[in-house]
Amino acid sequence: SRCVPGPPVAAAMSVFVTRRIPAEGLRVLSQASGCRVQQWDSEEPVPRAELLAGVAGTRGLLCLLSDRIDREVLDAAGPGLKVISTLSVGFDHLALDEIKKRGIRVGYTPDVLTDATAELSVALLLSACRRLPEAAEQVKSGGWTTWKPLWMCGYGLSDSTVGIIGLGRIGQAVARRLKPFGVRKFLYTGSGPKPESAAEFGAEFVPLTRLAEESDFVVVTCALTPATQGMCNKDFFGRMKKTSVFVNTSRGAVVNQEDLYDALASGQIAAAGLDVTTPEPLPTDHPLLSLKNCVVLPHIGSATYATRSTMAVLAANNLLAGLRGEPMPHELKL
Ligand code: NDP
Ligand code: DGY
Repeated sequence: SRCVPGPPVAAAMSVFVTRRIPAEGLRVLSQASGCRVQQWDSEEPVPRAELLAGVAGTRGLLCLLSDRIDREVLDAAGPGLKVISTLSVGFDHLALDEIKKRGIRVGYTPDVLTDATAELSVALLLSACRRLPEAAEQVKSGGWTTWKPLWMCGYGLSDSTVGIIGLGRIGQAVARRLKPFGVRKFLYTGSGPKPESAAEFGAEFVPLTRLAEESDFVVVTCALTPATQGMCNKDFFGRMKKTSVFVNTSRGAVVNQEDLYDALASGQIAAAGLDVTTPEPLPTDHPLLSLKNCVVLPHIGSATYATRSTMAVLAANNLLAGLRGEPMPHELKL
C-alpha cells in the first residue's frame, strides 16, 4: 500500500488519513477547498514508520483506534499539527496529556455509533447466554441427533438482574434494549450515581462488588481509563454467580483475560461474550478461543454500513472545523 498525495496547495490544510475510510468521509475532505489529503490507502493499519513519515508537517490527522498517537507521533508531526480527529468514540489510544500540552484539538465520534454498538452488545449477550455459535456448530457437525430436553440449554433474560458497568451513552442504550426482554432489575456502577440517566430503567447505583455478586448478566460499556483497566479480574469473577454471563463491548484491557479464562474454564461463570480483546486481533491459538462458553467477535460494535459512513463524515467534519478554527461538531474537551 502507499500514501496517495493530493494536489499541491497551501500547507494550512494538509491532513494525513491513516487508513482507507468510507468514501463519504474522504469526499468531505477532498472537496473542502484548500484541503490537501494524504492517505494510507489500505484496509490494513499503517506501519509505524509510515505513520511517522505521513504525519510530518501536517496540520490535521484523521486516525483510528488502532493507531497509538503518542509523543513520538506528535514529535514526528511537528509543531504545525493543530487537530487530531479519531474515527471512534473511544480515545484511550490518544496521549491526551501530551496532546493538551501542545494545544492540539481533538475530535471524536460519540452518539452516532451508540445504537449500532448497543444492538451488537445485545446480539452478543444473546449469543453467549443462549449458546448460539455452539448450537449452530452442532447442526453442521451432526451433533444434532434429535430434540433433547436437556440439550443446549442456556440462560434467559426474563426476571433477571442486569449489571451495567458504565451507564453512559452505550450503557443506557443497552439497558433500553434489554428492558423489554423482561429484566427485573438493573444495577450500574461508575464514578458516581447518575439519577437522571438511571431513572428510565429504575437502575440502582451499587459498588462493583455488589454488581458482580447480584447480576445474572454483566455488560461492560465503560471507557478504558487507568481506573477501569483490569477492573474485571479474579476477585470480580470470583464474586459472580456460576449461572451468570459476562459481556464486554468496551475495551479489552478492562478485563484481565487470564482471570476470565480461569473463570470460564472452571465453571465459575457460565459464559462470556467479548467484542474487544487484548490484543486485537486475538491470536487464533489464544486459550479463550478453545472455550465453548466464550463467544469472541472482532470488534464490530459499530460495524453497520450506515454507522461507519456517518462516523467517517463526522470525523472529516471535526477535522475541517478544527483546521478552520471553528467549533467542531464533536470536540473532546481536554
Ligand atoms: P460514555 O462516555 O457515554 O460512557 C462511558 C461510561 O464509562 C460513563 O458512563 C462513565 O461513567 C463510565 N466510567 C468511567 N469510569 C468508570 C469506572 N471507574 N467504573 C465504571 N464506569 C466508569 O461513552 P460511550 O457510551 O459512548 O462509549 C463507551 C465506550 O465504549 C467507549 O469509550 C469505547 O471504548 C467503547 N466502544 C466500543 C465499541 C465497539 O465497537 N465495541 C463501539 C463504541 C464504543 P461515569 O460517567 O459515572 O464516569
Ligand atoms: C469506538 O468508536 O471507540 C469503537 O471501539 C469503534 O467504533
